[in-house]
Amino acid sequence: MVKICCIGAGYVGGPTMAVIALNCPSIEVVVVDISVTRISAWNSDQLPIYEPGLNEVVKQCKGRNLFFSTDIEKHVSEADIIFVSVNTPTKTRGLGAGKAADLTYWESAARMIADVSKSNKIVVEKSTVPVKTAEAIERILTHNSKGIKYQILSNPEFLAEGTAIQDLFKPDRVLIGGRETPDGLKAIQALKDVYAHWVPEDRIITTNLWSAELSKLAANAFLAQRISSVNAMSALCEATGADVSQVSHAVGKDSRIGPKFLNASVGFGGSCFQKDILNLVYICECNGLAEVANYWKQVIKVNDYQKNRFVNRVVSSMFNTVSGKKIGIMGFAFKKDTGDTRETPAIDVCKGLLGDKARLSIYDPQVTADQIQRDLTMNKFDWDHPIHLQPMSPTGVKQVSIAWDAYEASKDAHALCILTEWDEFKTLDYRRIFDNMQKPAFVFDGRNVVNVEMLRDIGFIVYSIGKPLDPWLKNMPAVA
Ligand code: UDX
Ligand code: ADP
Repeated sequence: MVKICCIGAGYVGGPTMAVIALNCPSIEVVVVDISVTRISAWNSDQLPIYEPGLNEVVKQCKGRNLFFSTDIEKHVSEADIIFVSVNTPTKTRGLGAGKAADLTYWESAARMIADVSKSNKIVVEKSTVPVKTAEAIERILTHNSKGIKYQILSNPEFLAEGTAIQDLFKPDRVLIGGRETPDGLKAIQALKDVYAHWVPEDRIITTNLWSAELSKLAANAFLAQRISSVNAMSALCEATGADVSQVSHAVGKDSRIGPKFLNASVGFGGSCFQKDILNLVYICECNGLAEVANYWKQVIKVNDYQKNRFVNRVVSSMFNTVSGKKIGIMGFAFKKDTGDTRETPAIDVCKGLLGDKARLSIYDPQVTADQIQRDLTMNKFDWDHPIHLQPMSPTGVKQVSIAWDAYEASKDAHALCILTEWDEFKTLDYRRIFDNMQKPAFVFDGRNVVNVEMLRDIGFIVYSIGKPLDPWLKNMPAVA
């Protein structure tokens, strides 16, 4: 029986291994993690991450051929294939601070593999890591090999949160990079055999190691670039009276461009886009490619601009001050159908409003009060460390309260800011909300989910990203 061990039971490792286990009953899959609470959660009925469809998949194979454990060394030493899916935070100190990936966790995983292995291993890089990490890991393993052979593969994950299970079941492609030596090709084939249980052969792409690693960064940079492009257009639409949804629709009809990933928003978030682009920028700089680095940096700058622009719009519309005013924040996760808040635009928007002394009442159907408080007090880039190594948040932010539902968050508020496109925000009883708010009552829709006409009929002043401006907003100070 082939044995797989995955180091790191997070958003990538957990769902990916569950889908492998479900589709490959003949393979034993063990997911290990240093976090005891995370592993206990995977072993309970309350999984540590929210992902539609995940519960059902885990239920079917947990205890059959899918196991979660903290006994890392035992399972690593018994495995034939080891996936490494640990954190790769952005460095906050030293060489490459603010851009380069911190490989502390990867390196410690590699050294542990070298320490405990007694048989040949295929080591699969699953976390997003900068180009040439595989080579570094290969060096650590071979210099500590005690005669054991290691093959390093790069198998980047392309799943998006909120749709992880369907992405894993029907991937556009599976990418496997490896050494082009006889042993390397054998390792590639072994991993291909795993995916071939459910992925059609023509969707499994094999490349050299570096192409696989760079493709992951490139794919995320291209996707993020589309959002920054459409968000840049949204500012121009507001200035001119064009409607960004109409523009996106017309642009996306060009089959060379395509309709997906053209929704204007308050900004992109998530654990990958910003981090991967920063990695790309760093790699370009290290290779003396300043212009290329600047080109990609601009994608992040436009994203920061979009979040600032939103905050400025809120403040300038409300008589240039939100001091002491209650603002209901609808949604905190970086997108719908996930409880994940990593790099969510809500953090910067909330911090911006708090900077102007607003009082916030935050509601998100999946994010815990603890998490929100931690996010609002945490330093930039600290989020990507295992939770027990993150600095403890001091006391919660005083001007922030957490609400149980949208109605509580909006009660007596001067304004609502919709920051995540949860479906339930489309069908709220906005008449009831309006009646319980201060007047004039504002809705700032950062995700273009509400029916603007209906809300204006009720009496709201409504701002939507990239749409013709409400007459009220036209008379307010222009925003940069
Ligand atoms: C992304 C990639 O899609 C995935 O392939 C990769 O493996 C990891 O990074 P993820 O971060 O889970 O996945 O979410 P994604 O759906 O890409 O959304 C990222 C951000 O962009 C979200 O904040 C989302 O709200 C925003 N977005 C997305 C927009 O603002 N507009 C769009 O049109 C699409
Ligand atoms: P991703 O979104 O890439 O899956 P997560 O942060 O959700 O990232 O998951 C990474 C997991 O890796 C965390 O649960 C963390 O505790 C775990 N981890 C980090 N370093 C190690 C290590 N050396 N051994 C085992 N698990 C580790």
